[in-house]
Amino acid sequence: VEAERMRVSVIGTGYLGATTAACLAEMGFDVLGVDVDEAKVEMLRRGRVPFFEPGLDELLTENLPTGRLRFTTSFAEVAEFADLHLICVGTPQLDDSGAADLSYVNSAVDRLAPHLHRPTVVVGRSTVPVGTAATLAARMAALAPVGAEAELGWSPEFLRESFGVKDTLQPNRIVIGTDSPRVEKAVRALWQQQIDEGVPFLVTDMQTAELVKVSANAFLATKISFINAMAEVSEAAGADVMKLAEALSHDDRIGGKFLGPGLGFGGGCLPKDIRAFMARADELGVEPALSFLREVDAINQRRRARTIDIARQLIGGNFAGRTVTVLGAAFKPNSDDIRDSPALDVASTIASLGAHVTVYDPQAMDRAREEHPQLNYAPSMMEAAEGADVVLLLTEWTEFREANPEKLGEVVTQRKIVDGRNALDPTYWRSSGWIYRALGRQ
Ligand code: UGA
Repeated sequence: VEAERMRVSVIGTGYLGATTAACLAEMGFDVLGVDVDEAKVEMLRRGRVPFFEPGLDELLTENLPTGRLRFTTSFAEVAEFADLHLICVGTPQLDDSGAADLSYVNSAVDRLAPHLHRPTVVVGRSTVPVGTAATLAARMAALAPVGAEAELGWSPEFLRESFGVKDTLQPNRIVIGTDSPRVEKAVRALWQQQIDEGVPFLVTDMQTAELVKVSANAFLATKISFINAMAEVSEAAGADVMKLAEALSHDDRIGGKFLGPGLGFGGGCLPKDIRAFMARADELGVEPALSFLREVDAINQRRRARTIDIARQLIGGNFAGRTVTVLGAAFKPNSDDIRDSPALDVASTIASLGAHVTVYDPQAMDRAREEHPQLNYAPSMMEAAEGADVVLLLTEWTEFREANPEKLGEVVTQRKIVDGRNALDPTYWRSSGWIYRALGRQ
């Protein structure tokens, strides 16, 4: 099969699936996305992205009219159409055990397999506990009319939300877990342009490929919690964690990325992935190997509590009846994703302590309002800040980084700010009469 003519199906049209489908169409493949959610499919057909992801709507607008990119709800249609199927469904946290909910990956296979009448390659991209792919392969072979001629491999994605398009078109590595030459060949053909440009292509067994993804996220989470632990020490010792992080970053064995101290990590990936990883290690009988991740999680949660403490101190020890402004609702800037958002966690805790909390976020307001109707929402930063006894910056959108302390100072009741993301210049804000507090600094 010629690489540029390969026909690819993308199963699941959520954040990962829609981004993958649009990028593959942009790369010149014929792509058919499938989802059981009719409303989502209908939106995508009309060129509308159901979530905020910079650059994605342009890709839809360009590739839908050419017919290279289409969407359907029919698994019979995708089975008929594609030479290669990519599973891109979610694996959310199941319950308090932390284990991953595999019902979506299972159902993707269950819906597709009965239609597989000819030799086919199916490749998973979702983040799954190690061992899942082998189970799915057996499940698929049992259900597919073509039997073992339907082959499954695992090729995890490493996309960051808000950089999803770039991370798909220019990945930093491609990993494929398989022992089948046919699966390897199909995945190589998919990324041939990137491989030609020098992107490393690694072939492993399925278990290793599954592990690459979860261990990468575990490492990233650990790095963030490490610097946040240093923030705790810095606060106690009278040091400045921002200067510390900068000095550490010049050692290129350490590096400066994911060394940003503050409110810590949230979102649909890092928190649930480290918990699922611990749950899986427990099942495998190697719980001690990952017990440090419990600390990583605990440090991360403590940063939320600490942010609340600093705000409470600033307003004299009690939230009851006070007016609090929260800037940010998304789990990180340039996203409307509020899954496990540290900002909304802090906001709703403060509200539960009796404060009148008003939230503003440039993109995540609708989602926030839906999930946290007990909070108040304002249509702009200035309106949100009106009458505030304290302002908390909890997601570092550029709009907040560039806020004018003089102007903001005119609408608040008290010039007090907690910079939960170390995003502002303390000297600048203090020179405008603000009491400025941050995590890990004096
Ligand atoms: C993360 C990984 O970075 C991706 O490589 C991975 O593919 C993805 O999960 C996934 O599993 O699908 P994402 O959840 O989009 O991507 O967000 P990140 O950019 O990793 O940020 C995660 C959280 O860490 C955010 O809440 C962010 O505010 C926080 N963070 C990040 C810090 O607190 N400090 C930092 O220095 C960096």
